[in-house]
Amino acid sequence: MPDSISPPQFDFKSYLADQRNLVNRALTGIIETDFTDSRLSSAMHYSLMASGKRLRPVLCLAAAETVGKINDNVMVTACAIEMIHTYSLIHDDLPGMDNDELRRGKPTCHIQFDEATAILAGDALLTLAFEILSRQSTTPEMAVVWLQVIHTISKASGHRGMIKGQMKDIQAETSFVSLDELKQIHLLKTGALIKASVITGALLAGGTADSIEQLKIYAENIGLAFQVVDDILNVEGDASKMGKATGTDASRNKSTYPGLLGVNQSKQFAAELVNNALHALEIFGNKANPLSALARYIIKRER
Ligand code: IPE
Ligand code: IPE
Ligand code: MG
Ligand code: MG
Repeated sequence: MPDSISPPQFDFKSYLADQRNLVNRALTGIIETDFTDSRLSSAMHYSLMASGKRLRPVLCLAAAETVGKINDNVMVTACAIEMIHTYSLIHDDLPGMDNDELRRGKPTCHIQFDEATAILAGDALLTLAFEILSRQSTTPEMAVVWLQVIHTISKASGHRGMIKGQMKDIQAETSFVSLDELKQIHLLKTGALIKASVITGALLAGGTADSIEQLKIYAENIGLAFQVVDDILNVEGDASKMGKATGTDASRNKSTYPGLLGVNQSKQFAAELVNNALHALEIFGNKANPLSALARYIIKRER
């Protein structure tokens, strides 16, 4: 086919940069409205605006685009999810949890400030997420969708979702964990919030029940793949690119896929998961180009 009539290639690099910029701009707007001149706000700002990949908010936007259009409600939800994710990282790094000193290329929140401030900054980001979700002006019809969104995010982040996964992850440091149990830990500690990002983006853009079912399959698969790759990068990644320490899982006796299966089989497993995710997007055609590219990015990423 001559070049002039080839289908336009999806430029993922620019797409990702543009969407990250949109998210960062929206987060800056919230910071300008809500943060104060205080130590607590400084700590919240420090961790939130460090160089995170913004994967979850970008997934939220991409899911909206797959079934409809990005709107203000989607953007606010994307920001709320990034706040929850950032809080989870601040707490994950605390001495009583993973005890890490580097995150997003900078000293972790408790190292830069102190433990009490880091705990409170995390608490405050979590709470602010629900404040910004619940203050969006709405119509009676949209109020029903908002309740669904808030329910989805709170359940995914809470004691039957991310926190449950974090608890099991800690318990697994001192007990043997089977592959099935490890999958469960990953689906909860990382998969739950990733799935919520995709579902809420689609809900707020008017996705049908059928399309949301397909997106759930997509999201579960990439959520698991994302954590498998996180564990692989912990073994063989470049800490300077990742902005966090490597080799820490083995030294803390963490249960991981590379630990149980080895690195090569873990890579194969992550690739299978991404294939499953791509299959689930087939019904959307080109509308799902961003979600497809994000799935591929998850296994190719170096940070
Ligand atoms: C790290 O998440 C924690 C996991 C759930 C694996 P990310 O790799 O998305 O971290 P940031 O947001 O880019 O810092
Ligand atoms: C982090 O998992 C999961 C959450 C923060 C919910 P890890 O502890 O495996 O992630 P990193 O490697 O510290 O980013
Ligand atoms: Mg952890
Ligand atoms: Mg950790």
